[in-house]
Amino acid sequence: DKGGWSSFMAKEINEQADAVGNTLRGRISSAGVEIPELTALGDDRLREIDRIIIIACGTASYAGHVGSYAIEQWARVPVEVQLSHEFRYRDPVLSDRTLVISVSQSGETMDTLMAVKYAIERGVTTISVCNTQSATIPRESDAAVYTHAGPEVAVASTKAFVAQITAIYLIGLHLARVRGTFSAEEQTRAVEQFEALPAKVAEAIETRDQIAQLAHWMADTRSVLFLGRHVGYPIALEGALKLKEIAYIHAEGFAAGELKHGPIALIDHGQPVFVLVPSPRTSPIMHSKVVSNIQEIRARGARVIAVVEKGDTAVLPYADDVVRLPLADTLFEPLLQVIPLQWFALELSTAKGLDVDQPRNLAKSVTVE
Ligand code: M6R
Repeated sequence: DKGGWSSFMAKEINEQADAVGNTLRGRISSAGVEIPELTALGDDRLREIDRIIIIACGTASYAGHVGSYAIEQWARVPVEVQLSHEFRYRDPVLSDRTLVISVSQSGETMDTLMAVKYAIERGVTTISVCNTQSATIPRESDAAVYTHAGPEVAVASTKAFVAQITAIYLIGLHLARVRGTFSAEEQTRAVEQFEALPAKVAEAIETRDQIAQLAHWMADTRSVLFLGRHVGYPIALEGALKLKEIAYIHAEGFAAGELKHGPIALIDHGQPVFVLVPSPRTSPIMHSKVVSNIQEIRARGARVIAVVEKGDTAVLPYADDVVRLPLADTLFEPLLQVIPLQWFALELSTAKGLDVDQPRNLAKSVTVE
């Protein structure tokens, strides 16, 4: 039941404040973060972990990519992200001190399931981040941290994505507490950011009308680029994937710092570029670098759509459109930034008269390798 919405995707984008809130419930309090499913693994085991590999495909891998910055920053363990189907075939270096975190909405993605089985055979500890109760991947894993986004029907993943980032962050905070890498102050700050998040997500969802207008003039666009830095980088990748998937438009996401290493050659007159601008308050250096990137592409004719936090006026002279989001610390910005990009894909798909929920050639769950 679409509940009065024009598509499941529209409904699911709209449910994201609840997806985040429900995933936090029972795991976060003023005392900090505790995930009972991880406590059951034993704190000693979590203290001994010396390397984390996140495995996933598609959107879930971008959630993992965002999460890798937070876990590394908070729990001080090296984290890498690998696509499930690449992981197995590279003969990865694994030990009993490696932790593999798999991320899968369905819990049935064959590539990820096979990667998890491979890790288990090699004695690695496995945690599954999954949205589907009792799916195969969480059942096979040592521990399951469920996202509580509710059933996701649209092929394009939206609410599961924000719930996945939330769950991975909670794992990072749990690890940080157990490993003692976090000061009480940092812990309080992260808890505050989380508690304020659902209301901010709800506010970010309100960007739809502005985005719909943008999409309207762009219905004939053949290519869209997305730029981000740090946690904004995987959001750029996710924005591009959404657009390919449901609007069948060529789109690419880049790390903003890579521009001058090649992609800037693509910039031509009128080329639309979404730029995810980090907060000038919590990441002043990254912010100024991204503003310079905007100047560089604007000078070459790009049509710049800047996604900024409210009150950031630095981009105004160089941006054609500015999408404003509520204030959040750097690590929490992706949970807001992705929302206008989801709307953009949906609105462009709609403007092209396509089936938003059932894009061609794609299945909701990829159960073959
Ligand atoms: O069920 P999973 O999270 O394992 O699915 C992984 C990908 O197939 C999935 O995220 C896919 O990329 C989505 N259609 C993206 O919107």
